[in-house]
Amino acid sequence: MLDRIDALREELTDVTLTTLDEAEDFRITYLGQRSGIITNLFKKIGQVAPADRPTVGKQLNALKQRAEAIHQEAVDRLEQAAGPAAPDVDLTLPGRTPRVGSVHPLAQTLHDITRLFERFGFAVAEGPEIEDDWHNFTALNFPPEHPARDMQDTFFVEPPEGPRNGVVLRTHTSPVQIRVMENTAPPVRIIAPGRVYRNEAISYKSFCLFHQVEGLYVDEGVTLGDLKHILRTFAEAFFGADVQMRFRPSYFPFTEPSAEVDIWWADPEHPDGGRWMEILGSGMVHPNVLEAVGADPERYTGYAFGMGVERIAMLRYGIDDIRTFYENDVRFLQQF
Ligand code: DAH
Repeated sequence: MLDRIDALREELTDVTLTTLDEAEDFRITYLGQRSGIITNLFKKIGQVAPADRPTVGKQLNALKQRAEAIHQEAVDRLEQAAGPAAPDVDLTLPGRTPRVGSVHPLAQTLHDITRLFERFGFAVAEGPEIEDDWHNFTALNFPPEHPARDMQDTFFVEPPEGPRNGVVLRTHTSPVQIRVMENTAPPVRIIAPGRVYRNEAISYKSFCLFHQVEGLYVDEGVTLGDLKHILRTFAEAFFGADVQMRFRPSYFPFTEPSAEVDIWWADPEHPDGGRWMEILGSGMVHPNVLEAVGADPERYTGYAFGMGVERIAMLRYGIDDIRTFYENDVRFLQQF
């Protein structure tokens, strides 16, 4: 038995394993459970004379450990040479795209309009969405009972005949003109972006809330030419130099003269190839408005305008129904 062990020990010194298959063959040959050479020697230890068994057992154990070490060393060496195991992922699967939100088209449009007017030298002013009668109507030259109040389908917070003389959800951003001029003497050059509310029949072109950007410039010697210039400059910067626009005479209590501005909306499906779309009201600030805020109408003149942000966003993005801005349908919002 000891001779056999010696011979095997000798044999092991010559072993060179160069592939993982060879290492596995080696393991089965010497250490295999059923008929490995060394395993079989252990099975025969019962035939050794009892006195020799401790020595034989010890040597056999050493031989087994030697064989195991040779095998383990070969496996470690060969696996390392093969490089890291292939990662447990399927690189051909399509990736998972993270869902990213987008800026709402109205917020984007409001932001872009504001930025343009800031570049033209306008400061940004704000006012409350809940307004009193004075700022929303009276100071803007809507006398009580004046039919022009009917132009603005008002949501009342407090009834007009009540003790507080009417508190409303502002129907336009024009009250910010009053708030600014009450606190600042001319020259004044501001825009006021914000939300407004109207109790109107809801349709593709009207919603109960929408956004406006008010503009106001009051100084000595401001003319209608200045108004036309700033609005054309804005339209060309916003819609492109080939924009088609027109000034159309109109009426507002707080401006005289007044004009509305239309932009041509090209639409191949329309019989005329498109149509004029109103985007803003404007005019020269009425002397009564200047007087209401304590500015001298003999000394100062000014222009004002109020543009509909939804209308402008609809033109810009080719949207034909205002309600889509307020439905929060992801399929709509994803497109921006
Ligand atoms: N406030 C008007 C509206 O909501 C729009 C408007 C017209 C604003 C003329 C102005 C202006 O500042 O001068 O219909």
